[in-house]
Amino acid sequence: MASFKLFLLPGDGIGPEVAGEVERIIDWFNMQGIARFEIERGLVGGSAYDTHGKAISEEDMARAQAADAVIFGAVGGPKWDKVPYDVRPEAGLLRLRKDLGLFANLRPAICYPALADASSLKRDAVEGLDILIVRELTGGVYFGEPKTITDLGNGQKRGIDTQVYDTYEIDRIARVAFDLARTRRNKVSSAEKRNVMKTGVLWNEVVTRVHAESYPDVTLEHVLADNCAMQLVRWPKQYDVIVTDNLFGDVLSDVAAMLTGSLGMLPSASLGAPDPKTHRRKALYEPVHGSAPDIAGKGIANPIAMIASFAMAMRYSFGLGDWATKIETAIANVLAQGLRTKDIAAGGEAAISTGEMGRAILGELKKA
Ligand code: IPM
Ligand code: MG
Repeated sequence: MASFKLFLLPGDGIGPEVAGEVERIIDWFNMQGIARFEIERGLVGGSAYDTHGKAISEEDMARAQAADAVIFGAVGGPKWDKVPYDVRPEAGLLRLRKDLGLFANLRPAICYPALADASSLKRDAVEGLDILIVRELTGGVYFGEPKTITDLGNGQKRGIDTQVYDTYEIDRIARVAFDLARTRRNKVSSAEKRNVMKTGVLWNEVVTRVHAESYPDVTLEHVLADNCAMQLVRWPKQYDVIVTDNLFGDVLSDVAAMLTGSLGMLPSASLGAPDPKTHRRKALYEPVHGSAPDIAGKGIANPIAMIASFAMAMRYSFGLGDWATKIETAIANVLAQGLRTKDIAAGGEAAISTGEMGRAILGELKKA
C-alpha cells in the first residue's frame, strides 16, 4: 500500500475547524487501507507567532520540505494586526510558497448545480460553470525587490513594491496552464496589463512563444486583466483555463470564488516543479478562503473548500485521482440533498454545522 507523509498546518481562525474535517476523512482512508497517511502537525500564522515569535518555525519549515504534501488551513486575524510586518501571519504562508518553490497555483471554480442560486449572479450565468485559474505564485509584486517604505524627510514617505518577472517564470507557468487545458476544454486565456506594465508585455510575449512552439493545438487568447475581471462577472462560462500573475490571480480568483456561491467552496493546489529523479512535486493544498475570524470557534464554517483541497491532493500528489473524484462526488451529493452551512444557505434554509457537513460528506464517501 502506498504511504504518504502529510504535514498539517491548520493555522488560525476557522483553519483548525475545517482541517479537523479533513482529518476525519484521512482517518477513514487509513482505516480502510486505501493508503497509509502519516500525519505530522505544525503551527503557522498567528498561532506560530504566539508560540515561537515568528510566522513559522525553522523546524516546521523542515517538516514541510520533507512532506509529500502540506495541508494548510488559513492564517491571520485581528489579534495579530499589530505584530511586526516580517512576522505577520501571512508571512508564514508566503515563506512556504517561496521556499518550497510552489510556483503553480491551481484554483478551480466549479458551480455545483445545487448552489447556482447561492451565487450573486443569475443561475443561467453560473450553472455548470467549470473554470480553472492558474496563478503564478512565487514571483511578481509579492516577492519583487525593492519592497520598502522610506522616509523622504519632508513629511512624506514613499512606499515601493516591485513587479518583476523573468522569462523562465512565465514560461513554466504557461506550460502548466496549456498542459491542464489539454485535459479540459483546450482553451487558455492569458490575463495581464500589457497596455500599462512592462511585465505584462513580457508575459504576453512569452506565453505567445510557448504556445506557438509547444501547444499550437490549444486555443490561446490574450485578455487585459481588468477586462478579465469584468468578463468573469458578465459571462464566466466563456473561460476554461485562465493563466495570470500572482497579484491578478489573487484578485481574479476571489471573483471566481463568489461566482460559485461562496468563498467557502473554492479549493486550491500549489505545486512545485517535478523533481528530475523522483518526478515528485512539492505541494501545498489550501482553501482559497481566509481565517474568517468573525465566525471562528462557532463551528459554523464551511469545510467544503478544505475537503475539496484534500481531494486535489489525492489527484495531484498521491496518484489517487479516482478517490479525488469520489470526494468531489460526495460533496456534490450532500449539496444536492440540500445540506448547507450558513454561508451557502439561502434565506430560510436551515444551516448545519462544520462537523455535520464533514460527517455528511464522509457518509457519502463511504457509499462510493
Ligand atoms: C490567497 C490569500 C493570500 C494571498 C494572503 C493570505 C497572503 O489572499 O491565497 O489568495 O494574497 O496570496
Ligand atoms: Mg487571496
